[in-house]
Amino acid sequence: MPTKTPPITLLWPNKPSLLPPNDPPAPQRLGTFAVPSEPSDAALHVPPNALYHGDNLLALQHLRCSCAQKIDLIYLDPPFATGRIFRTRQTPSNAPTTAYRDTWSDKAQFLSMLYPRIYCMTELLSPKGVLIIHTDTRFSSYVATLLFEIMGEESLQNEIIWSYGGRGAKAHAGQFPRNHDTLLVFSKGTPTYHRQDRILRHPKTQLPKHILIDELGRPFKTSPRGDYTDQSIDRLALEGRIYYTRNRQIRIKYFLEHDKHHVLEPKQIGDVWDDIPDMMHCPRTERSGYPTQKPLALLERLLRAWSNEGDTIADLFCGSGTTLLAAQRLKRRWIGADQSDIAIQTTQHRLLQTPNCPTFHLYRLNEAAPSPEQPSPDPPVPPPTSARRKR
Ligand SMILES: C[S@@+](CC[C@H](N)C(=O)[O-])C[C@H]1O[C@@H](n2cnc3c(N)ncnc32)[C@H](O)[C@@H]1O
Repeated sequence: MPTKTPPITLLWPNKPSLLPPNDPPAPQRLGTFAVPSEPSDAALHVPPNALYHGDNLLALQHLRCSCAQKIDLIYLDPPFATGRIFRTRQTPSNAPTTAYRDTWSDKAQFLSMLYPRIYCMTELLSPKGVLIIHTDTRFSSYVATLLFEIMGEESLQNEIIWSYGGRGAKAHAGQFPRNHDTLLVFSKGTPTYHRQDRILRHPKTQLPKHILIDELGRPFKTSPRGDYTDQSIDRLALEGRIYYTRNRQIRIKYFLEHDKHHVLEPKQIGDVWDDIPDMMHCPRTERSGYPTQKPLALLERLLRAWSNEGDTIADLFCGSGTTLLAAQRLKRRWIGADQSDIAIQTTQHRLLQTPNCPTFHLYRLNEAAPSPEQPSPDPPVPPPTSARRKR
């Protein structure tokens, strides 16, 4: 029998075991938020979205009982051992207050925090689920190696470079300015994936060479015949979709949408994203004031690509709640967690301000076991879509 090669692993002093205690303290429900004029999820017999306040390891221990293999997309944007204390002025006094600390005694301590959390997250993924880790130049290779160990090398789907432009472009001696983050996308199985296009608007007066106009004034572009059969070519000819080059080569026409002044050309988005600016260049109305907030456009693109309406999305380092907001806007369900008081306040505020805010429960994660009289909270995760339909 062929022997399986053990995975390449990363070793560091005091690397923790991957099995946290089985017996998590139950979270305590602090409140339920619903917009009264909207039909709530409860009315549809669907358990609501959940926001956990506390250490996400406790949330993960709780979730691994209630929703193993039920989450379709997990995004995580953890602190990355920058050595910084992130402050904000989002308080009534406007005085700088600590939002969260990203200080560690060394890299080993930081990796020991991340490793069991990432492992528990992979246990929550549904068979088609994806895990997306937002990281930076210094840590992306460590994180990739941890994930190869946990999920296998074949689980890597994409390495996306988010080139965010100006910020961080401060030149350091001996190196190009660093102005990108890396998003690593992993999946256990064949994930949901929807191609994402960017629409280019070309002025009709300055069309690029590859866009042509037919005798009816319709703009089109062409591609080689590829492996179309003669029969398919005859059918396309009847539809007016065959283009002959000067030396009588057959190409296939693709008509493009247009308005009075522009031709609209969809361009498939690749793995380098340079069209989403950093927060400093996002509209003022989007900026919550939370440090390290990510743009909604970034999260919406990730969710559109790797999930469907009705899917369950989790972000257990949710900060200002950008992922949860994106999930809500795109009609996905969500689970969030953060240990920072300001993060939870900001997330709550942003969620409640969005139109059609669905019902959600806020839980406090307790370090100690709950007292016996504490009510047991509803399970935070919805049943699969098929179960919902049966009711
Ligand atoms: C980089 S920020 C996330 C920003 C977020 N993506 C946004 O758009 O606002 C990282 C967050 O992780 C939280 N965090 C760090 N360690 C945590 C832990 N063990 N449990 C829960 N949250 C944690 C911090 O409080 C911080 O809000």
